Amino acid sequence: MVDDLKGEDKLLQLLRGHGGETVSGSVLSGHLGVSRTAVWKWVNLLRRRGYRIESTPSRGYAFLGAPDIPLAGEVGHGLDTRVMGCRIRYLKEIDSTNRLAMDLGRGGEPEGTVVVAESQTEGKGRLGRTWVSPAGWNLYFSVLLRPPISPEGLARITLVTAVSLCRTLRAETALPVQIKWPNDLWVRGKKVGGILAEMSADMDQVRFAVVGVGINVNLPAEALPPRLRKTAISLSNAAGRTFSRVALLQALLMAMDRDYELFCREGFVPFRDQWTQLSMTSGQKVQVALPGETIQGTAVGISAQGALQVKRRDGVLHDVVSGDVSLMPEGRE
Ligand code: BTN
Repeated sequence: MVDDLKGEDKLLQLLRGHGGETVSGSVLSGHLGVSRTAVWKWVNLLRRRGYRIESTPSRGYAFLGAPDIPLAGEVGHGLDTRVMGCRIRYLKEIDSTNRLAMDLGRGGEPEGTVVVAESQTEGKGRLGRTWVSPAGWNLYFSVLLRPPISPEGLARITLVTAVSLCRTLRAETALPVQIKWPNDLWVRGKKVGGILAEMSADMDQVRFAVVGVGINVNLPAEALPPRLRKTAISLSNAAGRTFSRVALLQALLMAMDRDYELFCREGFVPFRDQWTQLSMTSGQKVQVALPGETIQGTAVGISAQGALQVKRRDGVLHDVVSGDVSLMPEGRE
């Protein structure tokens, strides 16, 4: 694994391994088998990436700290997963991490590859919407999967991912994060994140799937476009403190890794009750906008196939497989 690392990453590992102690340039160059000038160039490269490295003339270099940027080396550092993050590709800017992950899927990249970007110029949301993706605050990432399922199973992967993300965000932030069917994460009545799953499939088998996740982590309210301020929020806004994006992403990938393994073995059933408990619509009066009609009723749960079950006033149970769900204003039905 270490041999796959670039020179500057090996240097980082060495410095980090000394836990803040100063290591001389000659010891570093000896270990890495390069000149002291090369070490000095790599130190500067790492500094440009945001690492804090102290240099003391005639003594050497010391590692002082890492940036909170989801760089491959940071996210992969101590990541305890089976599949998720086996390869991590970080990009400062990209059109869409889902788009790149789909291309990588076609090119045979392994299951678990993660594409993470600092910003997206054409971030994609559900139903053809745009995902606003400015640099510096949030998480935008896509995971490439090769699940042994038929195309209808993709919706259930989205639901399982929502459970993994919701549970982890609750644990990491202590915020009352909830799932809004099918793929939104909400906190205190506003959207904080979303999931967009895409796939390449033939009639009865998924070739590969991409699960894309966007989470507003530290975005200040004033950085949101005005049209979104009533409906969107970030974790930091809701909690009144900021969060480490690297630590969050690691925790999310670890949860997704465990849940994906269980899903591949046992399907959606082990997640059904958790989903219902975490869903903001469970037991609530909802309105569902379907193509060409709107239905109203009480959201009673989720079917084994992952459809939202809505009971109309006349008692008829609807299995909703796609559409936009909203909570009915109090007292109306
Ligand atoms: C939604 O709620 O509409 C889904 C939003 C999904 C956004 C993420 S950001 C990372 C990944 N790349 C994309 O282009 N979209 C997803």
